[in-house]
Amino acid sequence: MKFKAMLIAGAMSFVPMTAMAADLTIGFSQIGSESGWRAAETTVTKQEAEKRGINLKFADAQQKQENQIKAIRSFVAQGVDAILLAPVVATGWDNVLEEARDAEIPVILLDRTVDAPDDLYMTAVTSDLVHEGRVAGQWLVDETAGAKCDIVELQGTTGSSPAIDRKTGFEEAIAGHDNLTIVRSQTGDFTRSQGKVVMESFLKAVGGENICALYAHNDDMAVGAIQAIKEAGLKPGEDIKIVSIDSVPDIHLAMANGEANATIELTPNMAGPALDALEAYLADGTTPPKWIQTESKLYTLNDDNMAIYEMKKDLGY
Ligand code: AHR
Repeated sequence: MKFKAMLIAGAMSFVPMTAMAADLTIGFSQIGSESGWRAAETTVTKQEAEKRGINLKFADAQQKQENQIKAIRSFVAQGVDAILLAPVVATGWDNVLEEARDAEIPVILLDRTVDAPDDLYMTAVTSDLVHEGRVAGQWLVDETAGAKCDIVELQGTTGSSPAIDRKTGFEEAIAGHDNLTIVRSQTGDFTRSQGKVVMESFLKAVGGENICALYAHNDDMAVGAIQAIKEAGLKPGEDIKIVSIDSVPDIHLAMANGEANATIELTPNMAGPALDALEAYLADGTTPPKWIQTESKLYTLNDDNMAIYEMKKDLGY
């Protein structure tokens, strides 16, 4: 059955019709495969759709917003019942989201937010990205306990909401702690390879002995940086403390080996809550909140990181 929503009085208001999940066709515009976390999100989304009998049309944008815009236009042209969008950057979505709205197709954001009026999408399933940065910063505040510590920062993709928000949260947490200074900050585009390249440049510019901690906006960049630190003859996790975000298996393996210190978990299961919300809406018109928040959990060396690695290693990361 084809789901169609109705626009009422200029506001986005969907009038649901009864639809079974098995009848639904949903388009998923995924960013790409920049990180282990992203691969896991893709795996989980496909599994969730299959489990519910949903026909999922998957489009890999290879990190380019223009490809995502094309994919959304194609989904609209095909008349899909709903669209899942993991937006690579925060800005530049208004026009294409208006096109989806005009076609009465609900859009659900996954894992990142957009700078657009919130009536252009049905709900956003994301973590509190600022909070993640705050947790990372607070971990370092506690860990250093007032000792001087110069920090290098590997930022995520420029213009993406996690890069913006995780930086904001971290800076908030370390503000007022004069022992902590960010001495270098640059994007590593959320990839392992760029994490390594940029860490090499930090080590060269600042000198490894002058770097006390690395804050990476995701684990993959941290894993790349660990390699660079080792190649520079230093011990990651000891000479340079490492805190990052995602909780991918490889960072837990690094933590089990004492080569990284802390990570904040981001669940790859954004599709589950998103499809639950869509199905509830289609079943009886339940309007989801504009933000469905996922949990953020801190893992440190106090956790059994080898067990976590074993538990996560075959989950599609
Ligand atoms: O938007 C979520 C972020 O995107 C993840 O932390 C990162 O690994 C991914 O690329």
